[in-house]
This record gives sequence, C-alpha cells and structure tokens, in this order.
Amino acid sequence: MRRLNAGQRHLVQFDLNGKLVSEESEPRLLLSDFLRGVLGSTGSHVGCEHGVCGACTVRLNGRAVRSCLTLAVQANGERVETVEGLARDGVLSPLQQAFRRHHALQCGFCTPGILMSLAELLDADTDVNEKSVRELLSGHLCRCTGYGNIVRAALDVFAEVSATEPAPDA
Ligand code: FES
Ligand code: FES
Repeated sequence: MRRLNAGQRHLVQFDLNGKLVSEESEPRLLLSDFLRGVLGSTGSHVGCEHGVCGACTVRLNGRAVRSCLTLAVQANGERVETVEGLARDGVLSPLQQAFRRHHALQCGFCTPGILMSLAELLDADTDVNEKSVRELLSGHLCRCTGYGNIVRAALDVFAEVSATEPAPDA
C-alpha cells in the first residue's frame, strides 16, 4: 500500500452522486469533513464523530459506510452516494416519499444516514421484514421518540418495490 505523507495534500477524485469531483485533501481528513467542508455537500450530518450514531452514513461503492470513520483519500477513484443523490430530476425517491407519507422524517438530523442505510437494504436481493429493518436501524441512534414511523415507511416502500418486481419463473 502506498504511504501517504501526513503533511502533504493529495488529489482526491471520485464520483459523487454521478458527478466527478476533484479536490485536494490532507491524508488525515475524514470523508465526512471532505464532503461537508471541502465539497459543500452538507446533506450528510455529523453527530458523534466516532462511528456510533450513524448520522454520517453514505454509500461507498454501494456499501453503507460511516463517513466519519473513512478517510477522504480512501474514496479516491471510488463511487460515493449521499442523500443529495437520492432524488432524481427533483422527484423524491420512493424511499423519501415513504418517509414523507409516514411522517418518518422526525428531527431530520439523522434521516440522511438512515435513508442511505435503507437504500443499501433496498438494493440488496434479500427478504426484508420488520426484524431486519429494526436490526439495521439499531445502527442509527434516534433520540427523538422512537423508530415506529421509520419502520412503517421502510416496510411500505419495500412492499411497494417487491410488488412491482417481475414474479420469479415457476
Ligand atoms: S458521526 Fe459518524 S457515526 Fe456518528
Ligand atoms: S429522527 Fe433524529 S433523533 Fe430521531
């Protein structure tokens, strides 16, 4: 693995929500700070800054990761998706629409991270049920009232998506 000099700045380029971004970064700069402070992409929030709360979750090559535990240089050459990339042409994604229908957008601070983790689950070829949704949400600390509306929104959108998928061959 190439050694990075702590004092030096390095060019970091990656695909952010379908667009190539390119800026210099110190090797120690966190991806969360790079996104927010350098690129001005402030949709991902920062709470605990040590991997516990889930607020900073983004997708790196499709996998949900804590951007506060990822260095910006680790994203070089990769694909990063943040909450800003969910809506297309001004139309909210099915997941976002379900959150709106079920009033699952509570404090809003942790919602971007929750949406990115749920988006990974939505893309995975796996059965989704209340238990798996609650298990996923256990990695996102919600301090407002509870997870009921978020769980309902998630199950609603998963049911909607599986209803539109073609039936498997008999
Ligand atoms: S800010 Fe990254 S997990 Fe809390
Ligand atoms: S949704 Fe943010 S603390 Fe509950």
